[in-house]
Amino acid sequence: MYIPPRICSRHLRQILRKTFCRLSSTTSQDVPHVCIVGSGPAGFYTAQQILKGHPAAKVDILEKLPVPFGLVRFGVAPDHPEVKNVIHTFTTTARNERCTFMGNVEVGKDVFVEDLQRAYTAVVLSYGADDDRTLAIKGENASNVISARSFVGWFNGLPQDRELSVDLDVENVVILGQGNVALDVARILLTPINILQKTDISQHALEALSRSRVKKVYLVGRRGPLQVAFTIKELREMTRLPGCRPVIHKDDVYNLNQVIKDLPRPRKRLTELLYKTSMETSDADASLWAQASKEWELRFRLSPTEIIEKAGKVTGVKFCVNQLQGDDLVNKSAVSTEETEDIECGLVFRSIGYKSVPIDLGLPFDERKGIIPNNKGRVLDRPGLYCSGWVSTGPVGVILNTMTGGFETGKIILKDLSEGVLSTEGKQGNQMIKDVLQSSGKQIVTFSDWDKIDEEEIRRGTVIGKPREKIVDISELLKVAHT
Ligand SMILES: Cc1cc2nc3c(=O)[nH]c(=O)nc-3n(C[C@H](O)[C@H](O)[C@H](O)COP(=O)(O)OP(=O)(O)OC[C@H]3O[C@@H](n4cnc5c(N)ncnc54)[C@H](O)[C@@H]3O)c2cc1C
Ligand SMILES: NC(=O)c1ccc[n+]([C@@H]2O[C@H](COP(=O)([O-])OP(=O)(O)OC[C@H]3O[C@@H](n4cnc5c(N)ncnc54)[C@H](OP(=O)(O)O)[C@@H]3O)[C@@H](O)[C@H]2O)c1
Repeated sequence: MYIPPRICSRHLRQILRKTFCRLSSTTSQDVPHVCIVGSGPAGFYTAQQILKGHPAAKVDILEKLPVPFGLVRFGVAPDHPEVKNVIHTFTTTARNERCTFMGNVEVGKDVFVEDLQRAYTAVVLSYGADDDRTLAIKGENASNVISARSFVGWFNGLPQDRELSVDLDVENVVILGQGNVALDVARILLTPINILQKTDISQHALEALSRSRVKKVYLVGRRGPLQVAFTIKELREMTRLPGCRPVIHKDDVYNLNQVIKDLPRPRKRLTELLYKTSMETSDADASLWAQASKEWELRFRLSPTEIIEKAGKVTGVKFCVNQLQGDDLVNKSAVSTEETEDIECGLVFRSIGYKSVPIDLGLPFDERKGIIPNNKGRVLDRPGLYCSGWVSTGPVGVILNTMTGGFETGKIILKDLSEGVLSTEGKQGNQMIKDVLQSSGKQIVTFSDWDKIDEEEIRRGTVIGKPREKIVDISELLKVAHT
């Protein structure tokens, strides 16, 4: 049973004792069955909290892909293997005897939330953000205008993106947006192949990148250097890319020196690094950068208004120049002026954020915010329905933030269970769902099946000197899982 820290009042102890008595007299009939939709960090951390906090609850994790871990597998950059260590914790959760992983099951298609609510005491929607924001500007659909989300999926072996058509036979690239995803895309484009080939980057991407002619990457933001969305560690990494020079215009940052002292801590250090990089304060850096054959450049206060094409090919991006408005030093908004600027390029990435979508017609969904409307993880006006992760907050936050949110939703469910808000009556969990899936011939991938895929991917990687070679074809994944 979950016991919140620092609870010491007698009243609360009595409640906990009563709850414990109720739980310890739990019969197999009133064991709570919890279903989690999505096996990314939000799903796994919510599951972990429930399993830890309740002595009998059973948790099923439904995942639309035949493989677990969401963006830890398909988002986190291949040259950041240390970030993927969270998979060990998720694996421990999945191996808990009260946890069942069911891959290759798409909620909203193979089974519906209504079915799940009939079978489970509680249902948690943790299905992330599978789409991306668009700009709605002329030329956005031209070939070689690519969403960063698809590009990330392509180099990370996401089955739906393996056929992505990206022409790297160009010198200049524009990335729209200045978040960490934009930096991931820039870094993958500019990192020497001999470094990438030791990572788990997908082989099709590695081969295409080895023929790439990309020399220059512009990272363009609509606001100023005090508003960039990327973080210091990722910026520092960019300044140290072998054979690559950062270009940050002195005009853009020279007056930042006067305000740095007034900035809140993380922004302060980030701005210091932007300033120092622009001023080339270290001789070592300056001499390294002088020899570089590739470069990346930060451009500010530019909003894209049109993708310029010639004979169906991207030749550049037209921007309007913005002014920043607002009294606060950091929280400023961009207001367009009459002035325009064009940047020439042969490839454009739109990296302005991911987007969640409603997966089931009967689900409440706030289209404007792009989230499931909720109060601390409880879906509004839908008893027994919960949410966690990016689908509950919007597509921002690192794994640590998602962990905190996942734990909070788990605690809310434990609280509702202990207060008798949730009914266990007639809720038999996955047996009911398995019947539905089996009758439609759906092949479920269990966690032991995933172990086989994992083993095979590591084997294929070892042969070519990589930590793993991901299998990118769904039918092949299923074949390996069920051999
Ligand atoms: C490109 C990129 C790189 C990142 N790199 C880092 C990093 O280096 N470090 C860091 O700390 N954070 C990083 N993050 C942030 C981190 O990935 C997120 O905080 C986290 O993954 C959000 O977790 P989630 O569970 O909400 O969503 P997700 O990780 O997206 O998981 C959602 C899961 O739900 C599944 N799903 C979707 N629809 C359905 C359905 N209908 N039925 C069943 N299952 C479904 C999906 O397949 C997926 O497995 C990165 C994010 C991105 C986009
Ligand atoms: N290494 C890591 O830790 C890592 C790696 C990748 C991702 N992540 C995390 O994952 C989350 C998502 O990252 P993200 O980069 O997709 O999103 P993000 O951090 O929200 O950045 C989005 C960028 O797009 C810009 N933008 C949004 N709408 C725009 C528009 N209409 N026109 C022009 N620019 C626009 C934003 O500018 P404004 O600020 O002006 O809106 C911002 O620069 C973040 O929390 C990120 O830190 C972490």
